[in-house]
Amino acid sequence: MAMHASLSCTLLFLGISVKWTLQEIFPPKYLHYDSATSRQLMCNQCPPGTYVKRHCSASRQTLCAPCPESHYAGEWHSTEECQYCSTVCKELQYVKQECNSTHNRLCECIKGRYLNLEFCLRHTICAPGFGAVRPGTPESNTICQRCPDGFFSNESSSQTPCRKHRNCTALGLPTASRGNASHDSVCAGDAEQTLKCGIDITLCEEAFFRFAVPTKLTPNWPQDLVDSLPGSTVDSEALERIRRGQDSQEQTFQLLKLWKLENQDQDIVKKIEQDIDRCENTVLKHIGHPNLTFDQLLVLMESLPGKRVAKEDIEKILMSCSPAEQILKLLSLWRIKNKGQDTLKGLMHGLKHLKRYHFPKAVIQSLRKTVKFLHSFTMYRLYQKLFLELVRSQVQSAKRSCL
Ligand SMILES: *[C@@H]1O[C@H](CO)[C@@H](O)[C@H](O)[C@H]1NC(C)=O
Ligand SMILES: *[C@@H]1O[C@H](CO)[C@@H](O)[C@H](O)[C@H]1NC(C)=O
Ligand SMILES: *[C@@H]1O[C@H](CO)[C@@H](O)[C@H](O)[C@H]1NC(C)=O
Ligand SMILES: *[C@@H]1O[C@H](CO)[C@@H](O)[C@H](O)[C@H]1NC(C)=O
Ligand SMILES: *[C@@H]1O[C@H](CO)[C@@H](O)[C@H](O)[C@H]1NC(C)=O
Repeated sequence: MAMHASLSCTLLFLGISVKWTLQEIFPPKYLHYDSATSRQLMCNQCPPGTYVKRHCSASRQTLCAPCPESHYAGEWHSTEECQYCSTVCKELQYVKQECNSTHNRLCECIKGRYLNLEFCLRHTICAPGFGAVRPGTPESNTICQRCPDGFFSNESSSQTPCRKHRNCTALGLPTASRGNASHDSVCAGDAEQTLKCGIDITLCEEAFFRFAVPTKLTPNWPQDLVDSLPGSTVDSEALERIRRGQDSQEQTFQLLKLWKLENQDQDIVKKIEQDIDRCENTVLKHIGHPNLTFDQLLVLMESLPGKRVAKEDIEKILMSCSPAEQILKLLSLWRIKNKGQDTLKGLMHGLKHLKRYHFPKAVIQSLRKTVKFLHSFTMYRLYQKLFLELVRSQVQSAKRSCL
């Protein structure tokens, strides 16, 4: 209690002292000749938003009254009227703030324009490759600057500054294409994963890459495989990461995929990509829009041999993938769970058993067609030869140079 009492005393004291200091400055004064007493008086000025209704006298303070409608007073003053709200907004301007008792009407150029002398001019748009170092405002134009090294802008905008390239190394991903002033860096894996609902290795890639899985594993086989491929080699960090904790099949798939990404300008890679794209379009066409329910997807996955894909994964996929992709994504998960298994063989095994479960016939048929297509995948056979040839010749020439 004693504490409380002393605290409030201090506050009271502070309050008084503050008021007293303010009164030394405020309100500002003005000299007024009082005709009644024939003396010069020091009158108080009137605050913003008011005007002097009656000057002070020997016995009374100045009387201030609020500004009438459409009038304002922005400062302390001693005049007997407020100013008229005079501002009229120009073409391409809007009323930012209606006139009030303390401010004149405020106008501003509409979005995308700035005031230059009397006109609202369009902001300069920074083209891709250029960013706004000073964004355009209603009062000033944009200042664009070419994006410096390590930054990019991929849009035409009067507002957006250059942004930093994404740092694939920091994200633990290999760089698929280095960024420049107008494009962000692309990290290996991420573009395709979002496009294909996170399907890491597609059925077509599997069909295409499978033949390269070595049957005999020498201690340094991943490096040998990489060295045998044309173009730039996969960087050693990425190679290390791929080697960690994966079986030889998965490692091969990942290595070839990475090699493909890092050598996109090579003719052979371009051809392979085209063929894989064509293959994937055909697969999607065959699978169509099956619109399977959760239970049906569960039955489909249970029909496959080996380790099961978890129910939670099926639920997640149902939410994040389009109907056509759901089956493909599930098959890809099944492959990863069942290291080294051929997805098509697993699927064929499953299809034999599905009839028992009243599974939609149309879906069974479309899956059959898909398997058939991938088996007859002419490109696969063609390239199998070509690719093997390529690998073989390079390995041989390497051996020869070692002898
Ligand atoms: C009057 O408008 C100005 C802006 O133009 C604003 O800052 C101020 O708070 C307004 N005053 C009142 C009393 O509404
Ligand atoms: C610009 O780059 C970002 C980041 O890479 C990307 O998300 C966005 O889609 C791109 N926008 C355009 C118009 O290309
Ligand atoms: C990218 O990240 C790595 C690791 O965090 C760092 O060493 C490197 O300097 C970064 N590169 C750029 C261009 O910021
Ligand atoms: C920037 O990179 C993109 C994609 O990597 C490419 O299409 C574009 O031509 C490059 N621009 C310049 C100016 O090098
Ligand atoms: C699946 O759904 C899509 C869109 O929701 C629809 O266009 C398609 O006809 C459906 N397919 C079947 C087999 O019901």
